[in-house]
Amino acid sequence: MRIMLYTGKGGVGKTSVAAATALRLADLGYRTVVISTDAAHSLADSFDRPLAPDPIQIAPNLWAQELDILHQMDLYWGTVQSWLKAVAIWQGVDRIVADEVTVLPGMEELASLLQIVYLHDTGKYDVVVVDCAPTGETLRLLTFPEVARWWIEKIFPLQRKAAGVLRPVMRQVLDMPLPGDEVFAAIQKLFADLERMRALLVDPETTTVRLVMNPEKMVIKEAQRTFAYLNLFDYDTDAVIVNRVMAPGNDFTHLPDIDGDGMSDETAERVRQALQHWYSWGQMQKPYLELIENSFAPVPIFRCPFFDQEVVGETMLRQMAAQTYGDTDPAKVLYRGRTQTLEPLDGGFVLTVPLPMVVKGQVDLTRSGDDLVVRIGNHKRNLVLPRSLSGLPTKEAKLEAGVLRIVFAADVKK
Ligand SMILES: Nc1ncnc2c1ncn2[C@@H]1O[C@H](COP(=O)(O)OP(=O)(O)OP(=O)(O)O)[C@@H](O)[C@H]1O
Ligand SMILES: [Mg+2]
Repeated sequence: MRIMLYTGKGGVGKTSVAAATALRLADLGYRTVVISTDAAHSLADSFDRPLAPDPIQIAPNLWAQELDILHQMDLYWGTVQSWLKAVAIWQGVDRIVADEVTVLPGMEELASLLQIVYLHDTGKYDVVVVDCAPTGETLRLLTFPEVARWWIEKIFPLQRKAAGVLRPVMRQVLDMPLPGDEVFAAIQKLFADLERMRALLVDPETTTVRLVMNPEKMVIKEAQRTFAYLNLFDYDTDAVIVNRVMAPGNDFTHLPDIDGDGMSDETAERVRQALQHWYSWGQMQKPYLELIENSFAPVPIFRCPFFDQEVVGETMLRQMAAQTYGDTDPAKVLYRGRTQTLEPLDGGFVLTVPLPMVVKGQVDLTRSGDDLVVRIGNHKRNLVLPRSLSGLPTKEAKLEAGVLRIVFAADVKK
């Protein structure tokens, strides 16, 4: 089975691209299911039809699902939450407040992501397309299984043993509600599912992440950061989708002259202004499209035009997919391999970036906060550093056999 996660900053077009991709996959003959982990569902808007909490078939080979977040939460967190609520109420927390505080931040989306495991187990689908919530949230969730594993291995057995021993003693001394076996069983199931989810998500033959962005400064910056983190957490990014590109392929150098034949002066002037406006947008996007190339290549970059209408309904979704992917089969793993790695070295770190197309040259680094610009000859690479590196000084940068190695010294303040 293939799993594709579409993520990116709010409003860039994740849901539209995910829906368009799913429809194209179904047209290609893959049994495809598309789900949204974003509580603010909009898949139904994209397909322009109502959806349900269970997958329903909406086209040949295509199923779509709008999860019932409360149900998902209850499934994975209900038992634990009942106990946490009892503890909160015991501590004097108001009942209604207790309901709210016992839902951990991110828990709702996490419970939705766990649906992937269920869909995988049904064996009914060739491809699962996931429309994720905006990046910040998703990233935190993708690291969660890693943290959970540590809990399972280290803390969980200890706690369970301790609770077993302490329960009778504690019961006699104070009446604080202690977790019963059903709570531990629920936590264990949650952890086991998380572990399986992680196994599916870090398997590069199964899961890849696709970054959706627009040619705009802040959007690209966030995507660069996500890209770096995904690499660190072992998730493979195999495609970048630049959405809302003004007339891809047009280089916007010469504003065509409108001779205004057959138009009134007023109409001709309005047409000129509209064209000027369109050209200004096109020109404004040019450096950002270049920045995207410099930041994400060799991961393949797909461009989708800014349409003159919303991307709603099958006709528009098909058009979006056709313009974005051309002849490419989006079910394929479109790029393999890590695009950067980070390893500890003498108290600091070494960041390696494979640059197979750059043979040799003097390496120049320019840093500003967490932005790092690498220039080698006329090749330029834009990186956004993970937070752990942004305070550390760069010690050396070298290009050897097509691999750039940047050494960050240890933080002397610590
Ligand atoms: N290439 C495009 N041309 C024209 N309109 C577009 C394009 N891509 C998306 N849209 C429209 O922009 C709006 C936002 O798109 P969409 O809902 O896919 O974004 P999103 O990233 O999922 O947003 P959110 O972060 O809120 O979930 C929708 O109305 C959609 O139809
Ligand atoms: Mg959306």
